[in-house]
Amino acid sequence: MRIGVCPGSFDPITVGHLDIIDRAAKLFDKLIVLVVVNVDKSPSFSLEERMEMIAASTSHLGNVEVAFYEGLLVDYLKEVDAIAMVKGLRAVTDFEYEFQMALTNKKLYPEAETIFLTTSAENMYLSSSLVKQVARFGGDISHFVPSVVHDRIWDRLGE
Ligand code: PNS
Repeated sequence: MRIGVCPGSFDPITVGHLDIIDRAAKLFDKLIVLVVVNVDKSPSFSLEERMEMIAASTSHLGNVEVAFYEGLLVDYLKEVDAIAMVKGLRAVTDFEYEFQMALTNKKLYPEAETIFLTTSAENMYLSSSLVKQVARFGGDISHFVPSVVHDRIWDRLGE
């Protein structure tokens, strides 16, 4: 079985994430969407909230599972015997950081590959932090987040 892992903070999941997950799911027998800790960020949504929102947004995909790991991404890949991690690339600005992580992960665990999927053109500008900013100031986020989790995100951030 070919297992792929799609890691991230997902704080919260956006339609940009969902687009990458949808497309990555076609490349593997099983795709695990993995909520991992980003030491540079302090999340707005709890771990459980983020996992529930991913699960609700991906319920149409039969080969997708949601999980959480508090440790090195490559250790999780080893644990589940995954062959690759899949990342979305939006613009040149993502590249340097992602390239650095890909090379580090390759050094730590050479058996796994990092696969970059370029984001769809309409999601190029989108990020979780922008969604949070727009919602906090009362802007319409309906185009930015999966419809099944819209109210949940709106209710929490609008508080
Ligand atoms: O969605 P993000 O926050 O941009 O994703 C970054 C993330 C969470 C994938 C990265 O911080 C990560 O891999 N964290 C897990 C810990 C780890 O393995 N760090 C070393 C990366 S080289």
